[in-house]
Amino acid sequence: MNITDINIEQAEGIAKMLLQEHEFRTMMCYYRSAMMEIETKFKVLNESLNVTHDRNPIETIKCRLKDPKSIIEKLWRKNYPLTLDAIEKHIRDIAGIRVICAFPEDVYLLAEFLLKQDDIQLVRVKDYIKNPKNSGYRSLHLIVKVPIFLANEKRMMNVEIQLRTIAMDFWASLEHKMKYKKDLEDAEEIAEQLKACAEEISRLDIAMQSIRNRIDKKDP
Ligand code: GTP
Ligand code: MG
Repeated sequence: MNITDINIEQAEGIAKMLLQEHEFRTMMCYYRSAMMEIETKFKVLNESLNVTHDRNPIETIKCRLKDPKSIIEKLWRKNYPLTLDAIEKHIRDIAGIRVICAFPEDVYLLAEFLLKQDDIQLVRVKDYIKNPKNSGYRSLHLIVKVPIFLANEKRMMNVEIQLRTIAMDFWASLEHKMKYKKDLEDAEEIAEQLKACAEEISRLDIAMQSIRNRIDKKDP
């Protein structure tokens, strides 16, 4: 975003938001709390599935809060007013959690158990494992609302959850790097190569899953 691209209403919006710095910080604190709630839910599920299903489905959990500059850029890009109300209404990925599993079945198992919880509301599912993106990107995306309990009120906050396998995550990191290198000469060829790798990764994930299932069956 370039400051010269901003029109007068948008500049007014930014000025108003700066004046509401306290409210903005409060809102970010709510999102951070919601992110912690979801992270804890996944950690608890990992513990519980260890007892009930004899597995630890989660390899890693990564949490991130969208930074203020990216929030403003997104509002601007999508032509929304630069207000706190618009942020809460339209930007659903301020609190983001990435859950990385070894096997694809664990991705679905975790999603199913999280969505069964009676305080979680499902807002949107995008299954890029069953329907990969053109780039080859695979991941299960959920947007959920989770309650946070404050001194005098309960608030439902949006959290974006991305669940994927270790191999899918490895792929997504490299592809992300390529996307942000603007001056790549052979970008098209690299994109083709990446797409082929995504397909190999998918075959590998399925093969590893079926080996694990065979081992589990033989090991009562
Ligand atoms: P935005 O969040 O506004 O981009 O749109 P959306 O809510 O429709 O997004 P979607 O659920 O499709 O994807 C959101 C996030 O998934 C992105 O911010 C990335 O982290 C990740 N993602 C989506 N597509 C790709 C991709 O092709 N490659 C990589 N590396 N990551 C992707
Ligand atoms: Mg996003």
